[in-house]
Amino acid sequence: MSCSRIILLFVYQLTLAFLVRKAFGASNCSNSGNFAANDPYGANLMELFTTLSNQTPPTLFGQASVGQPPDQVHGLALCAAYMSSSNCQTCVQKAVNEIQNSCPNKKSAIVWNNWYGDCLLKYSNVQFFGQVDNQNKIFYQNPNTAGNPVAFAMQTNGLLLQLSNQSSARPALYAAGELQVYGLQKVYGLAQCTRDLAGSDCKKCLDDLIATVLPTCCAGKEGGRVLSGSCLLQFENFVFISA
Ligand SMILES: *[C@@H]1O[C@H](CO)[C@@H](O)[C@H](O)[C@H]1NC(C)=O
Ligand SMILES: *[C@@H]1O[C@H](CO)[C@@H](O)[C@H](O)[C@H]1NC(C)=O
Repeated sequence: MSCSRIILLFVYQLTLAFLVRKAFGASNCSNSGNFAANDPYGANLMELFTTLSNQTPPTLFGQASVGQPPDQVHGLALCAAYMSSSNCQTCVQKAVNEIQNSCPNKKSAIVWNNWYGDCLLKYSNVQFFGQVDNQNKIFYQNPNTAGNPVAFAMQTNGLLLQLSNQSSARPALYAAGELQVYGLQKVYGLAQCTRDLAGSDCKKCLDDLIATVLPTCCAGKEGGRVLSGSCLLQFENFVFISA
């Protein structure tokens, strides 16, 4: 796993986002063709954005296809499990703006935004529902090293594997939990998938990020978040979600 394939961010955005109203986004539209300005695809995409903006906040997940081939567009949006429906709504709206600014006239794109939590927005002319997307991924690392980094990393890894397993068995495809590390020190975690995935693929998605990204980005750190096109992982040394 090469570091350069992942956007590395030294500023730890979650903490910032909780302290100040700061929206943050990262996107990828690098592998995608363009549609023409007067193409019906553009209108279908606008309708998809409206649909996902309405559909996502109540359940924190939305999925839709709009139009007919060859101008059909498929998309989904996901908000982190601890987000309120109103923060999710703002996050998705900002993601829609961000994806239009960063990837104008692109046939497919993905954006991760942060507004009191992480949200993901993704669309494509190719139907991708049910397929694990770990091609697209970013991480955010808390630059502070944990007090006992080896123990902390080991316990974090164990907790996230357990949460991955639990997520895959639940209809909402997420699980949260905590684990004693040493003394009074605890680690808190979240594992979550987009709900187009089958349970077994959710587990595959999360286990892959735990095995390939987590050691590079976040081992021994006080916190970290890994986000792909299909699942997300987060751990912190403070409570950010109730189990
Ligand atoms: C962006 O997409 C390209 C093509 O699919 C992929 O190779 C690359 O790793 C992606 N980058 C990120 C940050 O997800
Ligand atoms: C995975 O979850 C199932 C129940 O959903 C449980 O029986 C099993 O022990 C778990 N495995 C691990 C490794 O945690």
